Amino acid sequence: MCGIVGYIGAQEATAIVLAGLRELEYRGYDSAGLAVLEAGALRCFKAVGKLDNLVAKVGDYRSSGPVTAIGHTRWATHGKPTEANAHPHGLTHSQVVHNGIIENYLALRDSVDTPFLSQTDSEVIVHLFEQRLAQQQPGLSGALAAFRDTLAALRGAYAILLISETLPGHVFFARLGSPLQIGLAADGCHFASSDAAMVGVCATAVYLEDGQWGVAGTDGLQLFDATGAVVEPRLLPLPASSLAARKEGFRYFMEKEIYEQPQVLADILTGRLRDEAVTLDEFPSAWLANFSSVTLCACGTSYHAALAGSYLLERLARVPAKVEIASEFRYRDPVLDPRGLFVVISQSGETADTLEALKLAKAQGLATLALCNVDNSSMVREASQTLLLRAGIEKGVASTKAFSAQVMTLWLLALYWAQSRDTLDTARRVEEIAAMRRTLDVVRVQKPVHERLHRLSKRYLHGHGFFFIGRDLFYPLALEGALKLKEISYLHAEGYPAGEMKHGPIALADAELFTIALMARSTLYDKIKSNVEELSARDATIIAISTEDFELADDLIRIRAFEHPMLEFFEMLVVVQLLAMEIAIRLGNDVDMPRNLAKSVTVE
Ligand code: F6R
Repeated sequence: MCGIVGYIGAQEATAIVLAGLRELEYRGYDSAGLAVLEAGALRCFKAVGKLDNLVAKVGDYRSSGPVTAIGHTRWATHGKPTEANAHPHGLTHSQVVHNGIIENYLALRDSVDTPFLSQTDSEVIVHLFEQRLAQQQPGLSGALAAFRDTLAALRGAYAILLISETLPGHVFFARLGSPLQIGLAADGCHFASSDAAMVGVCATAVYLEDGQWGVAGTDGLQLFDATGAVVEPRLLPLPASSLAARKEGFRYFMEKEIYEQPQVLADILTGRLRDEAVTLDEFPSAWLANFSSVTLCACGTSYHAALAGSYLLERLARVPAKVEIASEFRYRDPVLDPRGLFVVISQSGETADTLEALKLAKAQGLATLALCNVDNSSMVREASQTLLLRAGIEKGVASTKAFSAQVMTLWLLALYWAQSRDTLDTARRVEEIAAMRRTLDVVRVQKPVHERLHRLSKRYLHGHGFFFIGRDLFYPLALEGALKLKEISYLHAEGYPAGEMKHGPIALADAELFTIALMARSTLYDKIKSNVEELSARDATIIAISTEDFELADDLIRIRAFEHPMLEFFEMLVVVQLLAMEIAIRLGNDVDMPRNLAKSVTVE
């Protein structure tokens, strides 16, 4: 979610690092920082907010002579976006930048006696390194041993760059679960967490594999695998343009973001799952126990997540849950439960209607909670409590990974709330947690499924409309599938509760009405089967998404069988996202920037 950059060489380093960070700024702009090791001494600059603030801090300073430098642009996860929490993090003679999450950082903090300056998980790396370095012989082999021992203590995901006054002219690096690459150029050695920062600077790069680590110096590169065995660096060509590089090989940001969903869900669950319970450090579960009801309020895709969340909150926590479209809510003089919790859900945290709804609930004295993807956004500042979505920056206007993040966060909230109300026995909690863990695999795009959807899409470029139908949790998913399709393909699509079709919409049924049926095996399968049979009998064209054979389907998109409804939910989510995208691409539309839409709707 953040971006990191590094350099060793004789060129002026601040310009190189700042240019690299500029390319990665879209990955996080809560704060930025850089450290330069020049003539054996470290200089560090940090600033909250956009990169321009760091540029202003660096001012006229320019490095000279051989230098090593590292930089970072941050998307806050652990700890607020403050200067103290900005990277690099330093101690007496070393500085580190880190992407990823160190899951065991609290235990590791307790294992060292040096004082901490930040609330981040990342700072612990530099403390461990300096502690271990003190136990080694001076020189490169001692420093390598200290770095290796530091990595051995870390649990979680990381891309790390570390520099130290004890070894000028060297950058220690490591990768596990977060990307990192090293570019070799005539002027020196460059590091970055994404191709975007290297295009035009180096022609080739070593793409580190998980578990690889080592040290780069003016004298060359030493690369090791997780067992400590020496690895021969393999150079690969870099993409030709930085826009292509930011898309990391995908055709559109939307596609990249669909493929990123396993990582997003992993980030959300990090540090929150125990064997029999979930934890949310943001607030004590006792806080939730006080509320007699919950109102969830949002717009668009976030509203669909809210609707799915209401099913989960009622089913798991047995708390009465109401869902409100923000633009309706704010003008209808609503009667609010004074003992209820008011929750807003928003990717941007800036949507005008949702923000005003939040202010209204707050003015009436309700406790408020914001589920947002952007820290420091207006809603985060306004609400009494916040749960950040940890989805990273979403560039595609059509929301994909933020929706999965919202649903997963609401599921966590429902389970956490259930614990405080004691509404689920241990076996049921264990089952929910096991399902949460499995979602990471479930949302991983399966190539054959994507290829099938690509081929299928050419049959559905016309017609007088699409109906996405589902029941229970799959109704909000049907709404979301229809919204995805209409906003990027410009075809008419509606989401509908399957049981409602016979109360009117079935009048539209004919061969040119395409019905996408979300036929979940886990949930009311026989009921939706009858609803689809009724449509098929009136000649509607049926595209069934199902684990089961279904003879009435004109096209069957077969999905894997899962017992747990949420696993079926996430499996089908990826299918409807990809189907919408493939249809829109075939129609020649720019799926990242659909006509008439904006990423953040800050006007009502
Ligand atoms: C659809 C989409 C929009 C947003 C809506 C609310 O793909 O992205 O419907 O969900 O504009 O935006 P946020 O979540 O930022 O409040």
